[in-house]
Amino acid sequence: MNEDINNPITLEPCEMLDERLFSPSAGRNKGFIAEAFGALMSDCRNIIEIASGTGEHAIAICKARPDLHYFPSDPDPQSRRSIEAWRHHENMQEQIAAPVDIDSRRNDWIEIFDDIDAIVCINMIHIAPFAACEGLFKGAGTLLPAGGRLFLYGPFMQDGQTAPSNLEFDRSLKSRNPEWGVRDIERELAPLGRENGLTLASVRAMPANNHVLIFTKD
Ligand SMILES: C[S@@+](CC[C@H](N)C(=O)[O-])C[C@H]1O[C@@H](n2cnc3c(N)ncnc32)[C@H](O)[C@@H]1O
Repeated sequence: MNEDINNPITLEPCEMLDERLFSPSAGRNKGFIAEAFGALMSDCRNIIEIASGTGEHAIAICKARPDLHYFPSDPDPQSRRSIEAWRHHENMQEQIAAPVDIDSRRNDWIEIFDDIDAIVCINMIHIAPFAACEGLFKGAGTLLPAGGRLFLYGPFMQDGQTAPSNLEFDRSLKSRNPEWGVRDIERELAPLGRENGLTLASVRAMPANNHVLIFTKD
C-alpha cells in the first residue's frame, strides 16, 4: 500500500466483511453528509466522487437521492474492491457505476467523463499532497459546465483559524507526512478555485468541527 496515497485503512482500523470495508468515521458522518448533499445539491444528477474510500458515502448519498447517477473512484485497489462489493451488496449497480482508478494528481480522468454536473470529494485533500487538491480543482474547472458544483467535506482552516481539535489533527497529519495538512479556505482553496473558474458559493458548518464547501463553476 502506498503511504503517499493513503487510504482509510491506514488511517483508522476498518472492519471487513467479504470485500466490504466499514470505516468508523464514515459510519459516524455519512448521514450528516448525505443530508447536506441533499440540501445543497438538489439540482445535480450526474456525479463523480473522487477518493470514495470504502464506498459507504456513495451508498448513503445515493440511497437518499435515487435520481443520481454516481461514478465513484479511488486510486487504492482495496478501496475499489470495497466500493464494488458495497454496490452489489446493496443492489445499486444501476445507480452507482463500477469504481474507476482516479488519482486526482493526474490529468487522465478529465477525459473519461462527459455530462457531469458535480464532483464530490470527502476527507481527501488534507490526507494527500496539495498536488491532489490542485488536480481536483483543475479537473472540476475543466469538466464542470457553468453552474456545476464541487462539493468538499472535511476539516478546514478559516483564515488561519480552526478548532483546537483540528489544529491537533493538522499537527499529527504533518508529522506523518509534511505534505499533508488541514487546508485553509480563504488562503488556499478560494484562490485555487478562482484560478480554475470556481467560486466559493457556500460554507456549511457540520458536526465535529467539519465543514461542507460548495464551489460553483463560473
Ligand atoms: C481518509 S480517506 C477518505 C475516504 C472517504 N472519502 C471517506 O470519507 O470515508 C482518503 C482517501 O483519499 C484517497 N486518495 C489519496 N490520495 C488521492 C489522490 N491523489 N487522488 C484521489 N484519491 C486519493 C485514498 O485512497 C483514500 O481512499
